[in-house]
Amino acid sequence: MASIIAPSILACDFSCLGDEVASVTKAGADWIHCDVMDGDFVPNISFGEPIIRAACRHTNLPLDVHLMIQRPDRYIQQFMAIPGVASVTSHLEANHDAGVTLDTVRAAGKKAGLSIKPGTPLDQARELFGRFDILLIMTVEPGFGGQPFMKDMLDKVREADRLRQDLGLGFLIEVDGGIDPETAALSREAGADVMVAGTSVFKATDRTAEILALRK
Ligand code: DX5
Ligand code: ZN
Repeated sequence: MASIIAPSILACDFSCLGDEVASVTKAGADWIHCDVMDGDFVPNISFGEPIIRAACRHTNLPLDVHLMIQRPDRYIQQFMAIPGVASVTSHLEANHDAGVTLDTVRAAGKKAGLSIKPGTPLDQARELFGRFDILLIMTVEPGFGGQPFMKDMLDKVREADRLRQDLGLGFLIEVDGGIDPETAALSREAGADVMVAGTSVFKATDRTAEILALRK
């Protein structure tokens, strides 16, 4: 299977959000990644529902919502109601019952994602295996774009890939943070399927070529 490329609009020019989303859609992106931050779970505030609703009017691609917020259970319905939202990912470390949140997302017919921060061992997600469709392995500390890829996270990707095979599960492994053509190749080799890329896509002079390079 070819890698799924998901540009993160966190790195786009918000003064022309519609054009930015249309541009990466035209450049060959597969999903549009939307980073929601609350200034509590992570030390930064990004955007919420109105921005994603605005973005969805400029693409037909699936929207991949990444909630870096406390109490995601309080907000998932609001995000799932946005047209085009195909997946909603919440963090294991957030203040909620992660299993219940995942079940609720699945029950709504969306892909349920579980994310873990760099410091969280995969073991801590063990009992939730089978209840998510996407495992988002953070390859930087969540909160900010433009950080360097943490190479030691590749072991976690390998471990997740091994477990997925051993358990006969079909979830997707997504990597997020510091992804460029080089780190995308390493991640893919380790077993990742979905590459989130903010800076590398939106700051590229040729976005089509960049997405192509990320997929190779
Ligand atoms: C980080 C976000 C990422 C980030 C990726 O908290 O979850 O999606 O925007 O940005 P780059 O590709 O710039 O590391
Ligand atoms: Zn993200």
